[in-house]
Amino acid sequence: MKMRNITCLAGMIFFIFCSGCSKRVVDLEQVNPEEKIVIKFSHVVAENTPKGMAAQRFAKLVKERTGGRVEVQIFPNSTLYKDGEEIEALQSGAVQIIAPAASKLSALDPQWQLLDLPYAFDNEGSVHKVMESQIGNRLFNGLKQHNIQALAFWDSGFKQMTNNVKPLVNKEDFKGLSFRVMINSQVLKKQFEYLGSRPVEGLFSNLYYDLETCRVNGEENTLSNIYSKKLFKVQPYLTISNHGYMGYVVMTNVEFWSELPEKVRRVLEDTLLEVTKWEREQALKMNREGLEQVVSSGLVQVHYQTEAEKKEWISVLEPIYYEFIKTYGEEMVSFIEQLNYK
Ligand code: LMR
Repeated sequence: MKMRNITCLAGMIFFIFCSGCSKRVVDLEQVNPEEKIVIKFSHVVAENTPKGMAAQRFAKLVKERTGGRVEVQIFPNSTLYKDGEEIEALQSGAVQIIAPAASKLSALDPQWQLLDLPYAFDNEGSVHKVMESQIGNRLFNGLKQHNIQALAFWDSGFKQMTNNVKPLVNKEDFKGLSFRVMINSQVLKKQFEYLGSRPVEGLFSNLYYDLETCRVNGEENTLSNIYSKKLFKVQPYLTISNHGYMGYVVMTNVEFWSELPEKVRRVLEDTLLEVTKWEREQALKMNREGLEQVVSSGLVQVHYQTEAEKKEWISVLEPIYYEFIKTYGEEMVSFIEQLNYK
């Protein structure tokens, strides 16, 4: 472990055009350019993740089902736009689909932080119920005023804690450590503050580097990200805490979507529905496999949180709920609680 810390310290066209008044992107290489529809799908994670694989599956099925008329081009790994750039790129029509973590939408509508509340959900099913309820509808509809149309809700899964100093078992273990948090979520920042550590906002594209060079000591993420981005290679301690949930809002530009031919839009919607089901299964599977791979690497000491430790973390983190309720009212939180007990 010492060696790792030492290393850690030492390391420090397509021609596209928007055709006049229409935001549709046209591939000029095609014989009939006006017929062809190109959809740029930008995301920040690796291809071998639930989101990365689902984007590829969506592209393949759409190509088949539209006879090649619609081409979905995927730009993974923040190659086109990073955290903090993606949303603007979607609004301006530079890309047509993105799927950021819901936490990152909190700058547009802070109520998305509901999903960041620690230990709010027992399982993915509870999250899906919330997203299919009037609360989910309200969150989705709230994006329209920002020229964003929400299309689907995908799972990343439950987050785990990693760091490069010590096993995270009790609150005291967090003392003096810094943790990267996703951009825009005050709830996530508070989570680490209540645990006695220092939250530092950071881009996903910088995460490996920030951990390798010890800009921060740790982070929270789903196992598919911890594995696919090789974070486990620079994070020797992992706590399986399932303390928070992370999901993705697949979204498009309102104008772009409304200008699509009806038939095409229907194919895209039906395909997304089908891919969403598949993506959720992949998320469960890939998080399970991610843990197996991380364990078998032999590089990581894994701690499985006990029920007693979970109770302790919950009591430390409870004030976040009261603060959230004070700001946004009780309705959203009590709705989640009801669902968890069903
Ligand atoms: C993160 O920033 O850690 C995640 O939101 C990345 C992702 O999209 O899964």
